[in-house]
Amino acid sequence: MKLEFRHAPFADLGLRELHDMLWLRNEVFVVGQKITCEAEVDGRDPECVHVWGTNEQGRVVATARVFLDSDPVKVGRVAVARDLQRGGVGSQLMEAVHAVIGDRPAALSAQAYLRTWYTRMGWTAVGEEYDEAEIPHIWMVRPAPATLPR
Ligand SMILES: CC(C)(COP(=O)(O)OP(=O)(O)OC[C@H]1O[C@@H](n2cnc3c(N)ncnc32)[C@H](O)[C@@H]1OP(=O)(O)O)[C@@H](O)C(=O)NCCC(=O)NCCS
Repeated sequence: MKLEFRHAPFADLGLRELHDMLWLRNEVFVVGQKITCEAEVDGRDPECVHVWGTNEQGRVVATARVFLDSDPVKVGRVAVARDLQRGGVGSQLMEAVHAVIGDRPAALSAQAYLRTWYTRMGWTAVGEEYDEAEIPHIWMVRPAPATLPR
C-alpha cells in the first residue's frame, strides 16, 4: 500500500492531524483492545514527536509517538487501523519511526505478542515480561544503528 509518512513535534501539528491520530489510537487501543484501565490520552503527547502515515485518500492509517528528548529515546502508541493490520503498514510505520530516531539508542514497552515482530526490525527484548494496562509487555531496546549486527 502506498502511504505517505510525516512527523512533527506536537506544537507543529495541525488540528486535523492531531484529531485523526487520537481518533485512530482510540479505535485501536480503546475500542479494539479494550484498554480502559489507563487513559489513552495521558497528558504526555505535548512532549512527543508524532509520526503518522496517510493513504492516498488522506486517511490517517498509522501512528506512533516518540519521546525524542528522553535518553534512551522512547517509542509508544504504535498503532495501525484495524482494517489494515497485517498488511505491512506497521512495518512501514516503524521504518518512519526509525528515521525519526536516527542514531540514538531507543526503547519501547512492547506488547509481548509483538516480540518477534520488533526483533525482526532490530529491537532486543530485555528482562522478563510484565503487566501494563493488564496486558503482558516486554521491555525492548534498539541500539544505535552503528552497533546493530550486519
Ligand atoms: C502492532 C501493529 C502496529 C503492527 O502493524 P501491522 O500493520 O499489523 O504489521 P505488519 O503487517 O507490518 O506486520 C505484521 C506482523 O506483525 C505481527 N502481528 C501483527 N498483528 C498481530 C497479531 N494480532 N497477532 C500476532 N502477531 C501480530 C506479526 O509478526 C505479523 O507478521 P505475520 O502477519 O507474518 O504473522 C498493529 O497490528 C496494531 O496496531 N496492533 C494493535 C495495537 C498494538 O498492539 N500496538 C503495539 C503496541 S506495543
